[in-house]
Amino acid sequence: MEKKILFPQAGGFLHGGDYNPEQWLDRPDILKEDVRMMKKAGVNCVTLGVFSWSVYEPVEGEFHFGWLEKIMDHLYENGIFTILATPSGARPAWLDETYPEAMRVSRQGMRNHHGVRHNHCMSSPEYRKKTADMDRRLAERFGSHPGLLMYHISNELGGECFCPLCTARFQSYLSEKFDHDIEKLNQAWWTTFWSHRYSSFSQVEPPFANGEGSIMGLNLEWKRFTTWNMTDFLKEEIRALREITPSVPVTTNFMMLYNGLDYRKMARELDVISWDSYPRFHNDEETLFETMTENAFHHTVMRSMKKEKPFMLMESAPGLVNWHPFNKVKRPGVHKLFCLQTAACGSDTVQYFQWRKGRGSFEQYHGAVVDHLGTDDTRIFRETAQVGELLKKIAPAAGTCVRARAALLFDWDNRWAIQDVKALAEPTKCYEKTCISIWKEFLKMGVEMDVVPSDDDFSGYDVIVAPMLYLLQPGTASCLKQFVERGGQLLATYFTGYVDDNTLCFMGGFPGDGLSELFGVISEEIDTLYPSDRNHIRFGDGWEDWEVRDYAEILRLTDAEVLGRYTDDFYQGGAALTRKRYGRGNAYYAAARCCPGQMRPLFEQMLAQAGIPVKQFPEGVEYHVRTGDEGTYEFYLNYGTAPACVQEVYGQDMLTGSEISGTLTLEGYGAAVIRK
Ligand code: GAL
Repeated sequence: MEKKILFPQAGGFLHGGDYNPEQWLDRPDILKEDVRMMKKAGVNCVTLGVFSWSVYEPVEGEFHFGWLEKIMDHLYENGIFTILATPSGARPAWLDETYPEAMRVSRQGMRNHHGVRHNHCMSSPEYRKKTADMDRRLAERFGSHPGLLMYHISNELGGECFCPLCTARFQSYLSEKFDHDIEKLNQAWWTTFWSHRYSSFSQVEPPFANGEGSIMGLNLEWKRFTTWNMTDFLKEEIRALREITPSVPVTTNFMMLYNGLDYRKMARELDVISWDSYPRFHNDEETLFETMTENAFHHTVMRSMKKEKPFMLMESAPGLVNWHPFNKVKRPGVHKLFCLQTAACGSDTVQYFQWRKGRGSFEQYHGAVVDHLGTDDTRIFRETAQVGELLKKIAPAAGTCVRARAALLFDWDNRWAIQDVKALAEPTKCYEKTCISIWKEFLKMGVEMDVVPSDDDFSGYDVIVAPMLYLLQPGTASCLKQFVERGGQLLATYFTGYVDDNTLCFMGGFPGDGLSELFGVISEEIDTLYPSDRNHIRFGDGWEDWEVRDYAEILRLTDAEVLGRYTDDFYQGGAALTRKRYGRGNAYYAAARCCPGQMRPLFEQMLAQAGIPVKQFPEGVEYHVRTGDEGTYEFYLNYGTAPACVQEVYGQDMLTGSEISGTLTLEGYGAAVIRK
């Protein structure tokens, strides 16, 4: 596979982060010292201008860009490239004073006052105009600067707005969607229930806190609309920049599995995916391995949005953050592991928030490479500089990608529908957790598994796991059938295929839309268990029993083979794990929630049927592999404090230069990158 280095001019990986020199314009000594220390830390890229609007344009129509030019020049002369942000993430006070419509209205129907950030109305024509104007000016002034790598649109776009402008836009969006026929909307949303029928689109309000919250179709469509409207805002910024500089790539920084926006839709507008990672290091609920492998899931969601090229880690904390419930510092050595994991999962950048701590305001105690102490003689600085060195050593891996033959289906629409459904039990729905825990089990077997939406192209996969696929997009059922027919191994679980994309239940048996034919089962009832309830699944072929918690469906068999049966309750002896041969593949159905660790034999069976090898690792070791046309790069990360030995490793460790032929010994918090 051909390498796609994101930024060849910077060579290899980018290392750096958000830099806010506008806070220090009266301290030229500090600005000079910053560049000296950046070079020492192996920083080759910074993000500028994320929150600079009030410095660029202190009063309406008066622009000051000279300071930025000086800084970009100086950085570039010193080998440091710039990612230039557009400043729409926070507005100057004059803007809100002059154009109050830019201030968002909350779900409670109240207009915000000026302040904070990330809270503009996405519909406001005035704000869109102001933003596009600012973006054009930035592109005109800096678009051809040799130090410019890309644009970073706004910052962590998110939230929703309930103002009259957004309401009107929602209504016209609905009218478009339902062919200007209110009866189609009434049908799709089942509004005759509780007499909620509409006679015109102008009557449909967003789901205000004290308004309509009982129509599942409306709630879901509002979420989709918010994504659509936010994407439209993003597109307007991109359009303004591209008018002037069509070939400068664009990104915006995503936030993990942020619930409010379907990132997959926004991703289509971007050249590169980037995101911000802030795990709760060393928390008191999980091991470091658990925390970090969850982070790997998030990396994978990001890299799966553009599988053909590397993604970017745009922000992370060099030390601690200031907004977790407990802001524990990363233990020595963990920063290195975090950064190598980023590279292992397919990122070509390791970027921080922030380079230097500010003196005041909200983030004065947020971690940074440079502390208030102001020197390069700190633990955090040394660990950052060490990462700078390591990234140089593994530079040949930049541009390579993680290739997966297995996929997990994870959908924003499905997630929203499950969150909103009035069924099951609120505390145990746990859709995200269920997906993550299954995905982690594949990671433990050394199997790379993409995380893709249910309307993705399945043709490159041999194994698909679709946990709790409650909502089926049009076409998903038939794509899954084709996948199995041509030889794929598919696993679906309880709570699959209950509703269509408007949240209307399928008639004639779940899983609907033809999936009951694929699996050879119909789910007749779903039993929601109390947290202390247990059942078990017993198998005929020697697998250990699986413990059942939370959910157990009672199946009516049509033509599936029964692999496991319930051991207890009135459905004792009923089918709980089934398989149906369909075409050249197998469709498995797990009717109950079980611990993925216990389900391992099933996963191994599916992988074996697909010819995907399973590997063995000592506890606490994470493994990934990046592939390019010239070879592969295997990453081994030990999150334990004790040494760990991995067998069957062959090649050169790029971090130490030593040849490994058989046994790789990793120190506590140790790592290796093996080139083959
Ligand atoms: C991010 C944000 C940054 C900074 C950081 C602190 O969410 O984009 O501007 O606030 O959090 O962790």
